[in-house]
Amino acid sequence: MKRVLRSGILSVIVLLSILGLSACGAAPSIPAATGGAVASAAPRATAAGLEMLEEGGNAIDAAVATALVLAVVHPNAGNLGGGGFAIVRMGDEVEALDFRETAPAAARAEMYLDEHGEAISDLSLIGPLAAGVPGSPHGYFELHRRYGALPWSRVVDPAIRAARDGFVVTDRLAEALEENQDLLARFETTAAVWLPGGQTHDAGSTVRIPALAESLQAYADRGPAALMEGSIAEVVVAASERNGGILSLKDLADYRPVWRRPIRFRAFGWEIASMPLPSSGGIILGQTCGMLERLDWAAKSRFGADRTHLLAEVWRRAYADRFLLGDPSTSHATAEDLLSPKWLDRRAATIDVERATASDEVLPWSGPTPTESDQTTHLSVVDSEGNAVALTTTLNGSFGCGLLVPEAGFLLNNEMDDFAAQPGKPNQFGLVQGEANAVGPGKRMLSSMTPTVAWRDGEVVALGAPGGSRIPTGTAQVLLNIIVDGDGLKSAVDRPRVHHQWRPDAIWAEADALATETQQDLIRRGHSIRKRNAVGLVQITRRTSDGECQAVADPRGPGSAAVVGKNKEIHQ
Ligand code: DON
Repeated sequence: MKRVLRSGILSVIVLLSILGLSACGAAPSIPAATGGAVASAAPRATAAGLEMLEEGGNAIDAAVATALVLAVVHPNAGNLGGGGFAIVRMGDEVEALDFRETAPAAARAEMYLDEHGEAISDLSLIGPLAAGVPGSPHGYFELHRRYGALPWSRVVDPAIRAARDGFVVTDRLAEALEENQDLLARFETTAAVWLPGGQTHDAGSTVRIPALAESLQAYADRGPAALMEGSIAEVVVAASERNGGILSLKDLADYRPVWRRPIRFRAFGWEIASMPLPSSGGIILGQTCGMLERLDWAAKSRFGADRTHLLAEVWRRAYADRFLLGDPSTSHATAEDLLSPKWLDRRAATIDVERATASDEVLPWSGPTPTESDQTTHLSVVDSEGNAVALTTTLNGSFGCGLLVPEAGFLLNNEMDDFAAQPGKPNQFGLVQGEANAVGPGKRMLSSMTPTVAWRDGEVVALGAPGGSRIPTGTAQVLLNIIVDGDGLKSAVDRPRVHHQWRPDAIWAEADALATETQQDLIRRGHSIRKRNAVGLVQITRRTSDGECQAVADPRGPGSAAVVGKNKEIHQ
């Protein structure tokens, strides 16, 4: 009898946790304190962020120190040879920094096509021909130049120490090295660091990267010019040329990050700021919230098929519009077009609350202006003043294009694959993209990264994720769990997620995201459903209106969340 009772209680607890509720109704406990909070993909990187906050640094100092340590200890995504975006809210200023890679001046629309006009996917994925001009060295420096409080050299110091004195390989890094052995073995210089003697580093072993430590020291002394001009730029270009790349010294010297006006909107009583073009992320998030408000999504039950159906329908339309997007200079639609109340009204009005619309029937916006794209990493910081930084950075694929620049010690990205190598054909994330995102010299390739800051009545939340095309949808769901349903951070992140991206026409669902009856209901409405292991890996921080800072790292991936002065929550 007792056993039956116990197993009954256990099933209720399992069910409640699947539904995102804790058995006693209380929020699961997470670290909280008033001095600030950091969530990132690696414990050592999060520790660097905390070190800055503890020394009186602000959210920017913490975010940049965290990102730079990720460039050492999380080489599959953290980087100096990649790029990214940041949304910062410092006092009353809300800004977006675009440090996305650019296409080299010698890039051409047909550079990844064979003689029949078919894309040769390896060319835009492996080796330096796949690399855009790195934006991270300027990006991190510019964030700090404008808003940092601690000296620049102090912010770079934890990364120098990690590269010079060594860091311990986590289980997740050991796994990533194992999984990517073939890529890492392709270039001798990469293998020398990451596959010494042909072997991956074991979890628990210590790795030192002296060349990277020297690059970081030069960066600490002289800023981005130390990496983008002079001797390090020369080795980057030489390594690229030796391996079939087209990066030039001028490409590197000419690179500049751009401050942009964030996508701003109000939804469910919150102010939200997210990334504008060249990311599609903020537009997709804005369209999602705008259409859901029109469809009275908040009033629908959290359980059952109604909400998932509407999410799929909204994303089907938002990702169809994504087809028009690209670098701001060539995009076939703007944020103003796609977020205009009129367009959102019209789009929402085409949604049948009972039936799925076939993706073939959903066309991108056709407005008056014109006719008619593992591994990324996100970090979030809040500080004791309520300043917030959401920063997503990437090499694109895990370990980027695979080429480690020998004397410089860092990997180059393969971000060129985010262009539509062959417009209309799916890329590595299955995204079908248009002419607006064709390869072109100096252009920034369209992204899905969605660093986001949301605030209301003295409360602020910073979040974002890696996950390719699933970044906007993963980020949106966690945000909605908080701003619509009032979830605590942990429940908001843990709750299973779904995804739809117009093409292919399917809902991807994480395990436990949809109960059997819900799946049947969705199939009856005309959806097809596929399984997916993770819809984004969300790193999130929050400062409540009474000054309590909290952080949660997504248990789906590597992560470490911590607050000043308290124990860390770590997922290896
Ligand atoms: O900018 C983008 O959208 C992609 N380069 C992001 C790649 C990514 O998230 C891969 N990791 N999961």
